[in-house]
Amino acid sequence: MKLKEAFKDSCLFAFNIDDFVVLKAVLEAFEETGKPLIVQLSEGEVNWWGMENFFRITFPWQKRGGVFLNIDHGSSWPVLEKAIQQGFDMVHFDGSDLPWEENIAQTRRVVEMAHSQGVLVEGEPQADWTEVKKAAEFQRKTGVDLVAVFAGNRHGMDPQKPEHLDFSQLRALKEAVGEETGLTLHGGSGVPLEELERAIKEKLVVKVNINTLLRITYREEVEKSLAHYQGLRIYELMKPVKESLQEKVKLLLSLG
Ligand code: G3H
Ligand code: ZN
Repeated sequence: MKLKEAFKDSCLFAFNIDDFVVLKAVLEAFEETGKPLIVQLSEGEVNWWGMENFFRITFPWQKRGGVFLNIDHGSSWPVLEKAIQQGFDMVHFDGSDLPWEENIAQTRRVVEMAHSQGVLVEGEPQADWTEVKKAAEFQRKTGVDLVAVFAGNRHGMDPQKPEHLDFSQLRALKEAVGEETGLTLHGGSGVPLEELERAIKEKLVVKVNINTLLRITYREEVEKSLAHYQGLRIYELMKPVKESLQEKVKLLLSLG
């Protein structure tokens, strides 16, 4: 199934993949649940993995179906171009810190290049809070497939300050971008699970991005494991880390 069809069927979680342990946890959660998902790399993560390395490792899952590849918050042309040529399913171009017209012009260029290769594009009109009129104009002028939106959600995660979604704003944004365009909820880590579930069930979003939750889980579990396991077998040391990550991923996948 192509990614465009997968978005019509359901909302997909998109997980940033720092390293092999995170990748193993996410792919094994996919094997267990059968729920389609996206594995994605930010430009920092691309630098760490090497795009070809990551593609060669994940390609068998992509080919079998159900696992899709994305570049997250890409802003440099060579990275986006390479991902499109390599066989990624989508790219997110983040021009939200550019002047408005420049963001539109550059996003359009990415859309032209990506669509000519059958690759989907996510664009980002504004960081922090997305205005309904701006989202509509941005979609109309760029032709993106997905719009990254902020309506109470933000990047990062502070357990003391959960991010509450503004559902009427999300509904207005969905209406503004039209039937054929999906909304991506960034900063999924800090949004309470019930609110993520509601946004998915009400079909307001087709993609939810998760990064910080996995990073926090990873650090905490590595520290615990180092304190408990004194041996040299790295696979023993990392096993509880992988298992905790996998549980978190499965819990999120169960919401969709
Ligand atoms: O693009 C990636 C995400 O928006 C991740 O946000 O780190 O708050 O989960 P998060
Ligand atoms: Zn993001």
